[in-house]
Amino acid sequence: MRDRLHRPLRDLRISVTDRCNFRCPYCMPKEVFGAGHAFLKDPQLMSLGELVRIAGAFRALGVEKVRLTGGEPLLRADVPDLVRALKQELGLPDVALTTNGWMLEKRAAALKAAGLDRVNVSVDSLDEARAGQLNGLGFNVARVLRGVDAAAAAGLPVKINTVVQRGVNDGEVLALCEYFRARGHTVRFIEFMDVGNTNHWSAERVVPARELVARIAAQWPLEPVGPAYRGEVAARYRYVDGAGEIGVISSVTEPFCRDCHRARLSADGKLYTCLFTSLGHDVLGRLRGGASDGEMAEYLAGIWGARTDRYSDERAELLAAGQTRPKVEMSYIGG
Ligand code: GTP
Ligand code: 5AD
Ligand code: SF4
Ligand code: SF4
Repeated sequence: MRDRLHRPLRDLRISVTDRCNFRCPYCMPKEVFGAGHAFLKDPQLMSLGELVRIAGAFRALGVEKVRLTGGEPLLRADVPDLVRALKQELGLPDVALTTNGWMLEKRAAALKAAGLDRVNVSVDSLDEARAGQLNGLGFNVARVLRGVDAAAAAGLPVKINTVVQRGVNDGEVLALCEYFRARGHTVRFIEFMDVGNTNHWSAERVVPARELVARIAAQWPLEPVGPAYRGEVAARYRYVDGAGEIGVISSVTEPFCRDCHRARLSADGKLYTCLFTSLGHDVLGRLRGGASDGEMAEYLAGIWGARTDRYSDERAELLAAGQTRPKVEMSYIGG
């Protein structure tokens, strides 16, 4: 099954909640996501059973990797049960989690026991003051780092995600490499993206991935490594001295839409075929309306077959023409 640009459907990112305990200014600025913000109500969220049935329909269409995100996915207590069902009932080869790490120290062992394959943890700064600003609420990075250690101790492969902003945390890139190389974790530096409608994005704050690689290689020589799987978003590099890898995610300066195999499911069960679209298809509505498994799979296949999204490829033209499109918020759709 291919979309209009011949891309298969391989990955599904599921946002299990639109809530988060952090307020990172680039994702959920607190002046927007404050007391007045209307989060989804519980009945609107996919239940555990609904999540498994919907994931099963995607599995039937060839999905092999499911990534659980949010908001902050660990705000939901049933995530280990979901992981277990995705692994055991659906036989998914790769079930991963993206988290801010705040609750990982307590929950890593249960997630591993449930069958989770791996975890990606966001760490934007190792400096307490800056980290507190970058999560919007002054939460300690020390606790997040204990979460990373707990995940590794539980036997979960860990990758670190760092969103780099020029003039904010780009001076910490080498320190982050040093800290995580010593612990055997890959850091992926992510170009600051114009996601959502409220994150004060500006092109000047984007540090091109190429520049980051050059800076790191000047300190520790690097060599490129091929992707772990086709369509991997991060370009990988290995330290020549053998201390592991780094990655860069260059969706602004070197987009990777050509190989984009990802579908996204929002916390209220709408399918988005791109991170930068405002059009969601109401999958949960179909399910609650009584659609059978076969009808669900047929519905999803029709949406994927019509897909033409390639926003990051088109971004430069749109910006040059002064055009903007309405977009979905990242915390709702899961990044
Ligand atoms: P791996 O399976 O470990 O390779 O994970 P991943 O990089 O696909 O997922 P993760 O949740 O760790 O996301 C890392 C960064 O890549 C985030 O900033 C995501 O928003 C971004 N990202 C992931 N998929 C896409 C995509 O399809 N398009 C764009 N533009 N960005 C993406
Ligand atoms: N640009 C790039 N990455 C972002 N993330 C959140 N907002 C942005 C943005 N504007 C990252 C988070 C997390 C991942 C799911 O997405 O830091 O690592
Ligand atoms: Fe929460 Fe992650 Fe968004 Fe930060 S980037 S506000 S941790 S969902
Ligand atoms: Fe895929 Fe859209 Fe990201 Fe391009 S911008 S890689 S189509 S999600």
